[in-house]
Amino acid sequence: MSTYEQEVNVEQHEFEPIKGYPMLNWKGKRPFRSTQYYPAQLKETHGEVTDGWINKIFWGDNLQVMSHLLKEYRGKIKLIYIDPPFDSKAEYKKKIKLKGKQISNDLNAFEEVQYTDMWTNDEYLQFMYERLILIRELLSEDGSLYLHCDWHKSHYLRCICDEIFGAQNFRNEIVWSYFGFKRSTTRKFPQKHDILLSYVKSEEYIWNVQYQPHSEEYIKRFKKDENGRLYRDDVNPTGGGSRVIYLDEVPGDIIDSVWNDIPPVNPVAKERQNYPTQKPEKLLERIINASTNLGDIVFDCFMGSGTAQAVSLKNGRKFIGSDINLGAVQTTTKRLTKILAANEKSVPGFEVYNVNNYDIFRNPVQAKELLIEALEVQPIHNNSIYDGEKDGRMVKIMPVNRIASRADLNELITNFDYKSFEKRQIENPNQPVERLLLVCMGHEPDLAAALEQEVGYKLDIEVVDILRDKSNLEFKRDSEAEVIVDSGNLIIKNFYPMSLLQKLSIMKENVEDWKELVESVMIDWNYDGAVLEPTVVDIPEKNELVSGIYKIPEDAGTIRVKITDLLSESFEVSIDNG
Ligand SMILES: C[S@@+](CC[C@H](N)C(=O)[O-])C[C@H]1O[C@@H](n2cnc3c(N)ncnc32)[C@H](O)[C@@H]1O
Repeated sequence: MSTYEQEVNVEQHEFEPIKGYPMLNWKGKRPFRSTQYYPAQLKETHGEVTDGWINKIFWGDNLQVMSHLLKEYRGKIKLIYIDPPFDSKAEYKKKIKLKGKQISNDLNAFEEVQYTDMWTNDEYLQFMYERLILIRELLSEDGSLYLHCDWHKSHYLRCICDEIFGAQNFRNEIVWSYFGFKRSTTRKFPQKHDILLSYVKSEEYIWNVQYQPHSEEYIKRFKKDENGRLYRDDVNPTGGGSRVIYLDEVPGDIIDSVWNDIPPVNPVAKERQNYPTQKPEKLLERIINASTNLGDIVFDCFMGSGTAQAVSLKNGRKFIGSDINLGAVQTTTKRLTKILAANEKSVPGFEVYNVNNYDIFRNPVQAKELLIEALEVQPIHNNSIYDGEKDGRMVKIMPVNRIASRADLNELITNFDYKSFEKRQIENPNQPVERLLLVCMGHEPDLAAALEQEVGYKLDIEVVDILRDKSNLEFKRDSEAEVIVDSGNLIIKNFYPMSLLQKLSIMKENVEDWKELVESVMIDWNYDGAVLEPTVVDIPEKNELVSGIYKIPEDAGTIRVKITDLLSESFEVSIDNG
């Protein structure tokens, strides 16, 4: 196949065979040899194209986002940092609090889950395996990967990376020993570090040695010479004998693989975005400085609050990012627009894309309950396989934070009641032993056939793909707003974000100040009907409120207003300006 065909036909390009050995095995491990192309839809543009480049962030499952990116960026990304879920069996929540309220209580604050980190069987390993293979495809020959993880899965991830990148391309196991409060554990040492595994694509990788200032103890070992210069006598490590070292000639203390000088983001830190598991900018700065040069592309496909993107923007690197949680995309957008606004130099702006349509769920965590309700499934509680029953079919809601793959079938395959299957087959040899309804958010082709083949019994399987069939389903409560044009001003008179009000148990009529419910207001004065290009970005500081009144410029045409509430849900409306 020609290079051109490879680039254009994502589906027809088989990934390079995996070279590294030995290999880790897990239940349901299957090869991942190629992917398909997923289109992306441009939704917003912030700032300008500069020197032919504009940064990009994507809302979607990173498997689909990376499959999309392969077309243009295969072999072009210099640094990929990922901080994926750690398989920690936890739910990560964000505190949502009414704006402008100093004190939080039950009436004005609650916790909202942003993402869960719970996996059954070995789904996690297959999930990471497929994404790491795509990461390798995207990396340039001189590129590097930093995989942020911890004790839960670092040992397995290292084996998987050895397999994918080749053990010879392993560079470091970095220990980020975050200080901060010590968890009290009675029967083991308290856990106090994360692990970053670094791999390179080839021997040609970019590397810039990093230094930190010398410790006082080290400096104390130097004496002053007659000119006041600090020096010390040392053994010559190469030629033998002695030599003199001047402190001002030593570039600093080389940073090694134990990083204990970077604190976690504290609750009052300026960089804090109030996103769970946010990583410190200093950590990303070190990685970006070590493994990229100015103008290189940095990619983080589990971007969360956008730390890698923010640090790239501040340090003259290009960036791409993605997250499946809309809250993460909104948080990153807010963070980046603030950096753009504060920047005096002309730096590239960024675009926001959707890959596939996750619009129906603001956040995948609540999706299961919503689906059960919307599809009118009779729920079954405390059942290890099924979520409910509908029209004589047993219903399984597949994980909704990604497209359903064959690996996701393992839970069913492991837990099926094979004794009953056997009995039913003997009683009615020509009938299916089970009637199933699989509900998913996008799925691999032939999912149903794969399940039947694995199980070895006749099954009657119906697959409902919410992304395809969603148009007739109602999941979100619509928001309402009253926006008017008066005396040359655009005025937001009222805003009722229904899901948020429901969570706060506030009736629409009892909203005291709609501004307390709002995270940001963005306005595009000349909306082209497709892509929001806001020139007004009203993001108030912590205890302040949006303005609500905006002067309309003379050249305004169709005005598009986007109001984003504290849950990251947005309301958009267009107004014709005369
Ligand atoms: C540990 S957080 C990343 C935090 C980030 N490093 C920061 O500094 O804010 C992991 C992120 O991965 C996202 N995520 C989980 N599964 C994903 C998927 N399949 N595709 C894209 N993002 C995903 C979660 O929504 C979450 O925001």
